[in-house]
Amino acid sequence: MANSTEKLRSIPYAARRQHFFSELLKGAENVVAIIPAHPELVRNNDVHFKFRQDSNFYYLTGFEEPDAIAVFRAVGGKKEFILFVRPKDLAQEIWTGYRTGVDGAVSKLGADRSYSVDDFDAQMPKLLHGAERVYYGLHKTLNYNGVEYLDAKIPRMIEDHRKGFGRSGRGLLPIYDPHEILGEMRLLKSPDEIDRLRKASQITANAHCEIIQRCRPGLYEYQVEAMVEYFFRFHGATRMGYNSIVASGHNATILHYIENSRRLEDGDLLLLDAGAECDYYTSDITRTFAVNGKMTAPQRELYDIVLKVQKECVAMAKPGATLVNIHNFAVEELTDAMVTLKFLSGDRKKLVETLAYKRYYPHGTGHLLGMDVHDVGLYQTDGQPRKLQPGMVFTVEPGFYVLFDDNQVPDKYRGIGIRVEDDVLITPEGCEVLTSGVPKEVDDMAAMTGTKPLLG
Ligand code: GLY
Ligand code: MN
Ligand code: MN
Repeated sequence: MANSTEKLRSIPYAARRQHFFSELLKGAENVVAIIPAHPELVRNNDVHFKFRQDSNFYYLTGFEEPDAIAVFRAVGGKKEFILFVRPKDLAQEIWTGYRTGVDGAVSKLGADRSYSVDDFDAQMPKLLHGAERVYYGLHKTLNYNGVEYLDAKIPRMIEDHRKGFGRSGRGLLPIYDPHEILGEMRLLKSPDEIDRLRKASQITANAHCEIIQRCRPGLYEYQVEAMVEYFFRFHGATRMGYNSIVASGHNATILHYIENSRRLEDGDLLLLDAGAECDYYTSDITRTFAVNGKMTAPQRELYDIVLKVQKECVAMAKPGATLVNIHNFAVEELTDAMVTLKFLSGDRKKLVETLAYKRYYPHGTGHLLGMDVHDVGLYQTDGQPRKLQPGMVFTVEPGFYVLFDDNQVPDKYRGIGIRVEDDVLITPEGCEVLTSGVPKEVDDMAAMTGTKPLLG
């Protein structure tokens, strides 16, 4: 079990910023990148959602306050990291907490210069001087004091910048999306990132074990959700990596079921898809198990199919393979099973080509994982599926889902939904399963089920 006080390697934000500059400068000699923090979002009336920083902004700054803007300016051979932050404000700090402030942005966060975010409109036009291109991701709204969205400001500033040249015949500075550059930077996980993913995975695996041990008919899905969050947070997770999917019975056939309101009945399976986030890195585990510890024959039949495919897919995860290879393999195996079970009929190749298998396996077999549960990074390079490399982290999560009203299949299979999901880190030799701390064999899970008392 991860110890929440264990020392994690620190994150080299300054080195990340230098790397970002060098990537920006590959496109032009004089560039300005504008990377906004996440805004604070209103939940209802004057109450806000709990704040989580934008992943790219945090990746480059390590700064957790809302409504800031980072500007990376590389013009005339000089590189500057400029931060616009919420100014110190005693009254606001009494209500909502400490602010790093303009001076702190330099002394604590390593900015070369800093300003109040209120000065953004006045300063930004000057920072554009000399730039040949601007990097800015549209739809990252800035909602500081409800004044104006950055998406409206930036193009206007660029137009004002052009006007500043007078009658020159020059066009607007081009805007490039920094998403791909940052995605590629975040793709291969460094040792300090792997520390955090490992911690998140251990906490998540432990919580899944605790849930299996406490599972029993009569519980409600939301009680399971509450226990998951308890075990995550109690053991040091910062927050949930995503909304937990606690899907019992035929709710398990709804891929992103997050309502979590149903009572777990005797004879149900429970599909639990939940991941802890630790210091901005998340895990993503799914286990499916019998609520009373005993799978019925049809549940077991479908479970065994999925588990076998999942283990084979994990075995394929090594340098040189691709996520597309792994997915195609899973699709072929699962389609074969659908034919054997007489859920589909016809030639496998045809069923794959026509996507007929999607009736029972509608999603992909894995996705990149990191600061975001569906992480950034290109899945294709040069028009080809990207080859797996050491440092890549992704999920392996085949499933099988039969809607409760599917009248093409025997009654006994209807309403069964199964997914088995682990997170793997590609290593030089193959892969490391980060989430191996929670069993997925039927007998192992059955032996644990209901062996511990409920909380509370
Ligand atoms: N938890 C969402 C997913 O597995 O992709
Ligand atoms: Mn996933
Ligand atoms: Mn998942």
